[in-house]
Amino acid sequence: MQLTTSQIAASSIPTDCLIIGILEDGGLSGAAAEIDNVSDGALSRLADSADLPKKAGQTLMLHGLPGVAAKRVLVVNFGKAEKLDGPAFVRGVQAAGKALRQSPAKSAHCLLDCIDVKNCDHAWRVRQAGIALTHADYIYTATKTPKAHDAPATETVSFADADGVANQLKLAEAIAAGVQRCRDLADAPPNICNPAYLAETARQMAAEHDGLSVEILDEAQMTELGMNALLAVGVGSENPSYLVRLSWRGGKDGEAPLAMVGKGITFDTGGISLKPRELMEQMKFDMGGAAATIGTMEAIARLKLPMNVDGVVAAVENMPDGKAYRPGDVITAMNGKTIEVHNTDAEGRMVLADALYWTGQNVKPAKMVDIATLTGACVVALGAHASGIMTQDDELADELLTAGLQSADRGWRLPLWDEYQAQIETPFADMKNLGGMPAGSITAGCFLSRFTDGQRWAHIDIAGSAWNWGKAESASGRPVGLLVEWLVSNAGGWNAIAG
Ligand code: BES
Ligand code: MN
Ligand code: ZN
Repeated sequence: MQLTTSQIAASSIPTDCLIIGILEDGGLSGAAAEIDNVSDGALSRLADSADLPKKAGQTLMLHGLPGVAAKRVLVVNFGKAEKLDGPAFVRGVQAAGKALRQSPAKSAHCLLDCIDVKNCDHAWRVRQAGIALTHADYIYTATKTPKAHDAPATETVSFADADGVANQLKLAEAIAAGVQRCRDLADAPPNICNPAYLAETARQMAAEHDGLSVEILDEAQMTELGMNALLAVGVGSENPSYLVRLSWRGGKDGEAPLAMVGKGITFDTGGISLKPRELMEQMKFDMGGAAATIGTMEAIARLKLPMNVDGVVAAVENMPDGKAYRPGDVITAMNGKTIEVHNTDAEGRMVLADALYWTGQNVKPAKMVDIATLTGACVVALGAHASGIMTQDDELADELLTAGLQSADRGWRLPLWDEYQAQIETPFADMKNLGGMPAGSITAGCFLSRFTDGQRWAHIDIAGSAWNWGKAESASGRPVGLLVEWLVSNAGGWNAIAG
């Protein structure tokens, strides 16, 4: 989808679809009132007859409105004015995008940026509307035969031209491309998207963008470095493991980068601690942290972010096999610490242990975050609406929570208190890879903390947020929005980015 600007008055734009917003309690406002005026009260008559959508998220497609050049007018309800914050606005735009996707409209003009949103200025509304419309337009097609009656994708969406709007739309396109990359990777089937595929994707991206470079470690190199925790998970698979590092150098020479480390389990069978058959196919998304890392690198390369950023991905497949690692094994990680394996399905923390330590030693980041579909317990605790954020660094926690609010891609903090560390003690090694039933997400975080060696670090569990659960299942593209926002705010904010 292309995002453009238009200087023509809304009612005269020859578009396939005009998108306007209404509120649950306030009748018609802003752009909607204007369209009502030119169409001789068509909208107020519909409101009087209670035909306009009444609840947040409901939409109505109108055809042939008098006085309006557009073929259709899409009316979206944004709910109560007093509840209209950033996330509520994005939900409304997503509802509009969904209705647009189901219609034959190939072009649209968006007037949703006129709506007042709590604590969100016009530049924010334009950017977020652009991103949300682009996401909502996405339907998985990569391995599917298209049907003749499938509605076409919307090719262009215009916004009213005003100061800075074109620039915000450029930013939106860059972020949307990163989100798209993340979704494409996480939706891809595991027989296609294996560890080598993740490495190849990174290699291609580095070839496409000046300032982006790639380093790929194979199993021989990782063996040399003693990355036995990561390697142990991969030995049961025919697909070799890789550690992939993408480096963006938009900042000063020698400036310590910010780093992201993504869990890239391209398929998680559980290994010898085999998962039950139900929903195992969903474990193709267990590389969602890697997908978000790669997607965020794509976005910041397109944004030409004026800072240094590294994205590291542990690309491994977890399979049962005669050579596979087993419960009871004691494995020495790259940092010399020993891990007793209690469950081969707790593999994410194994690969991240070495990936985090390697990143600390080699990237020497100012701050690092890891992103992982790490625990079912996080789905139980937070569902899909928030990513779980764990860190002992209060300042970093605040940065990430704020970035989540700002990007309508929210996180919520869980405590990483020392008290929880006792749950991963064992008589047979420095730690075990299982913390038991209580606080399963936190004890996973405790495990990771032992490989961070004094770094400023936070762990983001996206087991719930990385997936759009429910009917139209697909990867959500999260938390690319949160991560981009976090990086941009560290680079001086949106005003510091040229677009
Ligand atoms: N990839 C899973 C976590 C997961 C489960 C994500 C369900 C999304 C939905 C992870 O590797 C895993 O299997 N975790 C185990 C850990 C346990 C063995 C300590 C879990 O959550 O059950
Ligand atoms: Mn697992
Ligand atoms: Zn897993």
